Amino acid sequence: MKKLLYGLVCIAFLGFLTACGGGDNETEQDTTPTEEQAGDEQQTADAGDGDALYQQNCSSCHGGDLKSGGAPDLDKVGSKYSKDEIEEIIVNGKGGMPGGILTGEDADAVASWLAEKK
Ligand code: HEC
Repeated sequence: MKKLLYGLVCIAFLGFLTACGGGDNETEQDTTPTEEQAGDEQQTADAGDGDALYQQNCSSCHGGDLKSGGAPDLDKVGSKYSKDEIEEIIVNGKGGMPGGILTGEDADAVASWLAEKK
């Protein structure tokens, strides 16, 4: 009976040590500048799929800040078009812009995000 109790205490103690080690590692990673930057980028992407999808699929022509690309500025596109109109442009294209770059839910997410730019 005593042996069993001793074993349980050992297991509990080991578990405590492991938990502590894990905690320490996380703290170390959080304090390194590179990790913090990576964390910030991750947060930006999480903030909205529209933002991330825009950067991946549209920024090459429309610019990373919505207004410094070769294609028309989109920084105030929400006051020109409704969300549905923007989605239609994304899916069907317009003039020099090819359609179908994004479709379905992705087109919807970017259109909602851009419709907020007024
Ligand atoms: C290959 C380059 C290219 C890419 C990639 C591109 N566009 Fe365009 N886009 C254009 C061009 C060029 C126009 C201007 C079309 C015209 O009016 O003749 C345009 C026009 C637009 C317009 C209408 C702007 C206005 O004021 O009339 C919207 C909205 C738009 N693009 C959104 C997007 C979105 C969202 C994406 C990403 C899914 C995207 N574009 C990707 C080239 C591009």
